[in-house]
Amino acid sequence: MNTIETIAARRSIRKFTEVAISEEEITTLIAAGMNAPSARNTQPWHLMIIRNRETINSIIEICPNGSLMKGADTAILVLGDLNDTDDYFVIDCAAAVQNILLAAHELKLGTCWIGVYPREPRVEGLKKLFSLPEQIIPHSLIALGHPAESKPANNNYRENRIHMEKW
Ligand SMILES: Cc1cc2nc3c(=O)[nH]c(=O)nc-3n(C[C@H](O)[C@H](O)[C@H](O)COP(=O)(O)O)c2cc1C
Repeated sequence: MNTIETIAARRSIRKFTEVAISEEEITTLIAAGMNAPSARNTQPWHLMIIRNRETINSIIEICPNGSLMKGADTAILVLGDLNDTDDYFVIDCAAAVQNILLAAHELKLGTCWIGVYPREPRVEGLKKLFSLPEQIIPHSLIALGHPAESKPANNNYRENRIHMEKW
């Protein structure tokens, strides 16, 4: 599958099988995330790999919007580092998340982006749960597993959102 096909075919997967994700797959995904573009190439991210069921359940208590992580093999928590950034960390971390989602699709794995930042109770709750240093900001969660559902490719092209030369 080429990149353009992968972009369309990637969908949010919320049902997973019990097949485990390999260490090699995790490493490939993390590398893909870390190859994202970032403002001034600051790369202001950290990634936490979470497979412990109790920890995942504690995350879900803080982020009920991520309850689908119950069935996922792994959760990836993407964190921004304020020491490494000049205000662009939210955008930079989002680019890293998207790279991971696309790479996972290429590996035939399923993912769902779970929003954290800027919802304060989620950000503060996760900071407390993991005793994060002050400058480390929880940005997003990614549920990751082998997909137990399939969805058609996206076709979100909207002519009325294109503006040629002027508004
Ligand atoms: C910033 C962001 C936050 C999201 N948060 C959640 C979430 O908390 N729970 C969830 O089930 N899906 C979440 N999603 C996934 C979206 O619902 C999904 O991308 C959208 O409905 C389009 O579907 P698709 O990913 O299959 O193309 C999030 C997506 C983004 C980009």
